[in-house]
Amino acid sequence: MLSEKMETALNDQIGMEGYASFLYLSMASWCEFQGLDGTSQFFYRQAAEEHDHMMRIFHYVLEMDSKAIAPAIQQPPSNFDSVQSIFESVYTHEQKVTASINKLVNLANAENDHSTHNFLQWYVSEQREEEALIRLILDKLKLIGDGPQSLYFIDKEITEINSQMDTAEGAA
Ligand code: FEO
Repeated sequence: MLSEKMETALNDQIGMEGYASFLYLSMASWCEFQGLDGTSQFFYRQAAEEHDHMMRIFHYVLEMDSKAIAPAIQQPPSNFDSVQSIFESVYTHEQKVTASINKLVNLANAENDHSTHNFLQWYVSEQREEEALIRLILDKLKLIGDGPQSLYFIDKEITEINSQMDTAEGAA
């Protein structure tokens, strides 16, 4: 069984992953409405991945004979200024998630909870990959700039990233 403190911390993380899923869903909606199909597909995928991140913790908590709590739905923003600003806020959000995962790892260490420590290693790798991916996209956005045709090229670049992710998933 998990300690009470760990159970609460993991349930908080369930809420954080759930919020990320809805935040990315909201971003997908905004992008699709703007006609940015590649970028919206990217965010639909991210939303599904965050839902999976939430469920992995949910099932783990129950597997440890503790109580998993379905989190409250917090309303994410529905209006965004630009694709650039969306990716900047995604990066900030992912850094927050990484800090939260690191805190959980520290707690697992402090409690000698080897099982939770082991479980969290998947999240440590996932956060490293997610931050690297968003940095890659932000670097591309900087190169493309914000000229009149930039949205077309941004969407094309992100469509390319989507197909690379499809290929990587197919090979996994
Ligand atoms: Fe599951 Fe991107 O944090």
